[in-house]
Amino acid sequence: MSNPDPSIPASTAADLDRQDALAALREEFVGAETSLVYLDGNSLGRPLRRTAASMARFVEQEWGGRLIRGWDEGWFDLPLTLGDEIGRITLGAAPGQTWVGDSTTVTLYKLIRAAVDAQLPDGRDEIVIDTDNFPTDRYVVEGIARERGLTVRWLDVTTHGGVEVEPLRELLTERTAVVVLSQVAYRSAWLADVERITAAAHDVGALVLWDLCHSAGSVPIELDAHGVDLAVGCTYKYLNGGPGSPAFGYVAARHQSRLAQPIQGWMGHADPFAMGPGYTPAEGARRFISGTPPVLGMLALRDMLSLVDGVGIDAVRAKSVALTQLAIEVTDERLAPFGVEVASPRDADRRGGHVTLRHPRMREVVAALWRRDVIPDYRDPHGLRIGLSPLSTSFAEVEAGFEAIAEELGRQASSTTTA
Ligand SMILES: Cc1ncc(COP(=O)(O)O)c(C=O)c1O
Repeated sequence: MSNPDPSIPASTAADLDRQDALAALREEFVGAETSLVYLDGNSLGRPLRRTAASMARFVEQEWGGRLIRGWDEGWFDLPLTLGDEIGRITLGAAPGQTWVGDSTTVTLYKLIRAAVDAQLPDGRDEIVIDTDNFPTDRYVVEGIARERGLTVRWLDVTTHGGVEVEPLRELLTERTAVVVLSQVAYRSAWLADVERITAAAHDVGALVLWDLCHSAGSVPIELDAHGVDLAVGCTYKYLNGGPGSPAFGYVAARHQSRLAQPIQGWMGHADPFAMGPGYTPAEGARRFISGTPPVLGMLALRDMLSLVDGVGIDAVRAKSVALTQLAIEVTDERLAPFGVEVASPRDADRRGGHVTLRHPRMREVVAALWRRDVIPDYRDPHGLRIGLSPLSTSFAEVEAGFEAIAEELGRQASSTTTA
């Protein structure tokens, strides 16, 4: 790779790749052999090569060979067995509390509704959520508030920061039913202090639901140890489940019997094949399942989980921190002269797996980058978001991406001065 700027040691990214014990795993992913620079693994992870074979095997042997018998031979329990695996490998959750099934949005609806319904009889008629939470979380909360006659209390956060415990405390009262927050902010990558915030909510008797979409598979999570009540997360980002792969949900064992979810379907019934009158929820996490699970959508996810299991989530996080650190250093060296600002925490302990960079021309820059097969994301206001999926991203890929960003910013600057 060319290195026109002598202030960057030519060897930095190559050295980091040489020292990276996880570097070889990049070859496990489809597309690693191409020159395309993928900086959006926090939106949709790359597929694993082995997934093509496991999908073909599933069609031939399990679906084609076992047909309807497959339900008795594993598919019926797959939401729970796979949920336990996600819990063990990425969430710090003991078995029996995690399942896979609906989309993130639907799972958010089911769990927030269940939580407020359990809290309303105690006079708890408020939901607390931050103003920069992901849109679907905010929309679901507003819909449930309308449906149940609740008040939404908004925690103001900046688009380059995130949720902190002291400002949150000011909104928490004996009327708070549930607090809905993201562990890693989708825009800034702010990494919330799950333990302290959960404890603050518990101090007033509220429940907390954590959206783990941007943390599952990238940041170590300790749901049980931190006393978390409820959680939801998608599987198509750092868990590489593929477009539209189903979300997981988590309900701490201590809450399960008192929570009634609103979409009471036959697959969550205590005895689904009795097909009798009336609904009796199953014991345990099965009660949060509604209908037939999307078995095909869970196959790629299984492959990625076994890769993460082999490596360990702490090693994944260590590489994630190194990747985001490199991105910030190169921004300071190469992009700051164009007026680019880092809109993510500089403190690695407060930063998730992506970095957002701001400049007034970023919308145009991102469009130009996509045309040349360099794929970050654009998020308002003026944010180029770089998602660094640790197992499929090399340091050299990051460096190549920054070369391209610097070139496009340079073009934008010269088109502005000549216009
Ligand atoms: C924090 C967060 N929550 C929810 C979602 C999406 O929900 P769904 O999977 O239902 O589309 C996303 C998608 O990017 C997200 O980043």
